[in-house]
Amino acid sequence: MSETNDLAGAFLAAGTFADQVAVVTGGGTGLGLELSRGLAALGADVTILSRSVEHHRALLEEGRRRGWSVGARALDVRESADVARVAQELLEEKGRCDLLVNNAAGNFVCPSERLSFNAWRAVLGIVLDGTFYCSREFGRAMIAQGRGQIFNVVATYAWTGMPGVVHSASAKAGVLAMTRTLAVEWARHGIRVVALAPGPFDSRGAADRLWPSQEFEDRVRRSIPLKRFATREEVAGAAAWLVSDAACYVTGECLTLDGGAWLGRGILGGDEPVPKVRRRR
Ligand code: COA
Repeated sequence: MSETNDLAGAFLAAGTFADQVAVVTGGGTGLGLELSRGLAALGADVTILSRSVEHHRALLEEGRRRGWSVGARALDVRESADVARVAQELLEEKGRCDLLVNNAAGNFVCPSERLSFNAWRAVLGIVLDGTFYCSREFGRAMIAQGRGQIFNVVATYAWTGMPGVVHSASAKAGVLAMTRTLAVEWARHGIRVVALAPGPFDSRGAADRLWPSQEFEDRVRRSIPLKRFATREEVAGAAAWLVSDAACYVTGECLTLDGGAWLGRGILGGDEPVPKVRRRR
């Protein structure tokens, strides 16, 4: 992990999120950790919600070292009653919630015909149910405040589909629809709802789950028009911009941050040189 979140800082002034209360689900590892670090580095009061208390440690330690305002609660976002209770407790403690980041996810590659119903339920439960449970609970507080932002993490396979992840793709498609729906429904309450679809970035957690080998990972990298994965700081920087006032007229949109990966799939060979085709009479 890089020691700083300099790019998030380079995009936006220090203190951009000062006095803002942010909640990040699954904020203790991978992308969620980078988003939490980016927000905390820019002055937000960040609470991460994640199942494993072990996953809280890295951010809490870094926060102590750097003087960031960070906290953590144990929560499985699939459990609606627990979501309601923890949201209530946090809102009482902090007095408000300005930003909810729905990042908690579960994923693994499995042929659809072998996916158990329980596995389907587990991933849909975390990604789709969890996003709605948290959005409803913190959204109610944002409605009462007359202001707030919800930031959902999706993936480009929400609209392209992708073999091997029918559970995650179906759930992310639902989250994208939720993003657009709530953006319109809650706009009159001063709430923006946006999404980010990151491509591969430098994360061991995702790599261990999704890449069977180094060779496969190299193949994925070569297939990306920009020929590299995003850095953690680039992801945090783009996310921070999207939830900052610099993007205050953006709502219901999904920002794709994948080096052109999903666009590079045309039938003429993706990002290969354009083939010479002789003109026919
Ligand atoms: N392939 C096929 N099935 C799998 C699987 C895999 N790699 N991993 C889990 N499952 C199945 C289990 O066998 C189980 O089904 P079964 O009861 O029919 O056997 C079901 O999924 C639930 O697994 P379990 O481990 O009991 O659930 P959990 O709630 O502890 O875990 C997961 C949820 C499965 C999503 C787990 O991968 C997880 O917790 N991931 C969190 C982190 C993550 O994935 N982040 C995404 C980074 S890209």
